[in-house]
Amino acid sequence: MKKMDSFWMPFTGNRIFKDNPRLLQTARGMHYTKPDGSQVLDMVAGLWCCNAGHNDPRIVSAIQGQAAEMDYAPHFNFGHPAAFDLAEQLVEITPPGIDHVFFTNSGSESVDTALKIALAYQRERGKGTKTRFIGRERAYHGVGFGGISVGGIPYTRQQFSGAMLPGVDHLPHTHLIDRNAFSRGLPAHGAELADELERIVALHHPDNIAAVIVEPVSGSAGVLIPPVGYLKRLREICDRHDLLLIFDEVITGFGRLGSPFAAQEFDVVPDMITTAKGLTSGAVPMGAVFVADRIWREFMDKPGSAIEFFHGYTYSAHPLAVAACGATQRVYREDGLFERARAMAPVFEEGLHSLKDAPHVIDIRNYGLMGAVELAPEAGAPGAKAMRALQAAFDAGVMIRVTGDTIAFSPPLIIEESHIGQAVDTVRRVLEEL
Ligand SMILES: Cc1ncc(COP(=O)(O)O)c(C=O)c1O
Repeated sequence: MKKMDSFWMPFTGNRIFKDNPRLLQTARGMHYTKPDGSQVLDMVAGLWCCNAGHNDPRIVSAIQGQAAEMDYAPHFNFGHPAAFDLAEQLVEITPPGIDHVFFTNSGSESVDTALKIALAYQRERGKGTKTRFIGRERAYHGVGFGGISVGGIPYTRQQFSGAMLPGVDHLPHTHLIDRNAFSRGLPAHGAELADELERIVALHHPDNIAAVIVEPVSGSAGVLIPPVGYLKRLREICDRHDLLLIFDEVITGFGRLGSPFAAQEFDVVPDMITTAKGLTSGAVPMGAVFVADRIWREFMDKPGSAIEFFHGYTYSAHPLAVAACGATQRVYREDGLFERARAMAPVFEEGLHSLKDAPHVIDIRNYGLMGAVELAPEAGAPGAKAMRALQAAFDAGVMIRVTGDTIAFSPPLIIEESHIGQAVDTVRRVLEEL
């Protein structure tokens, strides 16, 4: 066995990584430190999650304190007071009417939980034929069987084609590079793509459709920003046909766009919001599904004392995650990090768009502290150029993320102007030498 082969790494070309590993040893603020002691500027918040930056002492000490006090408490028929307090705090920043939270351990679990809540809700209200789901091309909703089925990532769909949920349709993606290239903020063209939902509804009949799920801004597929008016149109069509709308805010939740959630940023309120990542700033795994009161009432406003929803995880609201989450939310509030994201967004936008004339660049797009620089693909080797850019940037002390031929940025919300300057200068040099 080759050195390092015991660890089968997730979503990684294991063979190529292990030939030249990119290792991270410690972290603080905006930086990782490599085993050789050199620093790496983190322009992706780890994996879109460390919104408060790394190792904030307030979060570290909350986790340490909880670990010493109580390691674990079950939430099947028992409860930890801190989890109830946390839920109350969290629903203060959700849009009005979204008042309940179901805790999970990851974004994938949040997505599968939301899909199950949608199915169970329809059945509870006597509409048990409403079972179909509608997702979108190029969507990433994690790796559960539900998530990959509503997701639209071709490689995933190919590898697991035998195990997709039945009864799923996909809206077209909204990445119209020929019409919207180099857009700043919401792209101007493409709202009419939401009308495809009408076509799908007409095909299957609303009596057979449970819910529509979309990422307000697609992250993993390369930062695909919704065209002006698109999300509002989806909401209107869902209302017209009595379909639930789920926003997957695993990336956009907790300040990445400047508001607590994309729902507020774009003034479109879904029926459920799936989250993870920024919930605890990545410090302890945790996910959460935020649920509209009218859904919750369908389960609870009935006589009886049976279990209302046959679903849950051993680690739902794990004490360490609850402690990390409570402290993270305090850091967001105390340091005004969502406002900071909004304030830094124009600087970030200017920086990214200054790369317009750099070699290989065919599009740049951004919203809040999410951004992408798309490169022209190399003939016969999609993604190869961007992977070389990732390696060169890492060697030069900047961590970026790539997906296909797109370089994605989603820095911690504590980012400063000088970091943006360093990242942009590094990426320009990398592209010039690619
Ligand atoms: C929108 C979205 N949903 C779900 C997930 C899956 O989250 P996890 O990797 O925590 O399972 C991700 C992860 O990137 C995501 O971006």
